[in-house]
Amino acid sequence: MRCRKCGEKAVINMRQHRLSLCAEHYLEWIPQQVQRHIEKYEMFSFDDKILVAVSGGKDSLALWNILNGLGYKTEGVYIDLGIDEGIDYSRNSRLTVESFAENNQLPIHLINMQKKHGETIPEINQRTHRGRRNPCSVCGLVKRHVLNQFSLDGSFDVIVTGHNLDDEAAILLANTLDWSLEFLSRGYPVLPAKPGFTRKAKPFCRIYERESAAYTILRKINFINSECPFSIDSKQIYYKEILNQWEDDKPGTKLRFYLHYLKTLDQGAFPRGQENDQELIDQQCPNCGQPTNTGGLCAFCQIFEVK
Ligand code: AMP
Ligand code: FES
Ligand code: ZN
Ligand code: ZN
Repeated sequence: MRCRKCGEKAVINMRQHRLSLCAEHYLEWIPQQVQRHIEKYEMFSFDDKILVAVSGGKDSLALWNILNGLGYKTEGVYIDLGIDEGIDYSRNSRLTVESFAENNQLPIHLINMQKKHGETIPEINQRTHRGRRNPCSVCGLVKRHVLNQFSLDGSFDVIVTGHNLDDEAAILLANTLDWSLEFLSRGYPVLPAKPGFTRKAKPFCRIYERESAAYTILRKINFINSECPFSIDSKQIYYKEILNQWEDDKPGTKLRFYLHYLKTLDQGAFPRGQENDQELIDQQCPNCGQPTNTGGLCAFCQIFEVK
């Protein structure tokens, strides 16, 4: 296997793109792809103040590294969810993010759920569902709210996350099987800003998980390899495994599935980005001021009200 650009020994063969590259050309190629996708989906510009949500995992750290290398103005934010029992998952993630920021001299903001809101994710889950339910959905809601609030307070133009193609295709498969039109409308790589909501973008939406892992390893970026202990048997992992089987049989399946979905959105099959639609979300939460359509406290503040 030889590099398509220089003929040297290739380190990666991407069957889905019919492309093999050596380390040097791969490390050049990935940022070029990301820049192309940022422009294609009009995610943000070089003038924007960008908040990168970093979890300590390979995708968000690779993304931060790439955006910084491309010359974007970035600051990182890490939410310490307090998922530490047994394996110190949050603690180790925080240490990984902190050392990445320090080594690259990048600004990082730390938000500690316990200190800021008085409870960790496992504690919230224990209180609200007596620990009977997997905390992932409450955790997702908390992360979205906390990131949005932090970006509003800091006047950021956009929040970016490290969601990759495997994440997006798995979510898309799950939502398609459920015909969940509400969620299907939110899968675009960028959701525009609306009063009370910061713009959100996923610059890795077309980057395979394997490609992002290879980038992190070749760049020698230290990342946390363990998954959140609550996600071990999640639905998303199940769908990812199925998509991987299809991808093995027919390289490019994940990308085709996702790109055809984006085309369908472009053709107006679903209303795009409902989450940020002002007709639906026209009232403010009396506690935190973020938009809500409940007529009372927003979903985040309701979690703490039932204490
Ligand atoms: P996940 O939902 O864990 O697959 O994460 C998807 C993306 O959300 C990551 O790539 C990060 O950009 C962001 N993210 C996840 N967890 C955190 C966290 N604890 N703090 C900040 N950002 C996070
Ligand atoms: Fe939130 Fe796993 S990261 S429950
Ligand atoms: Zn080469
Ligand atoms: Zn609220």
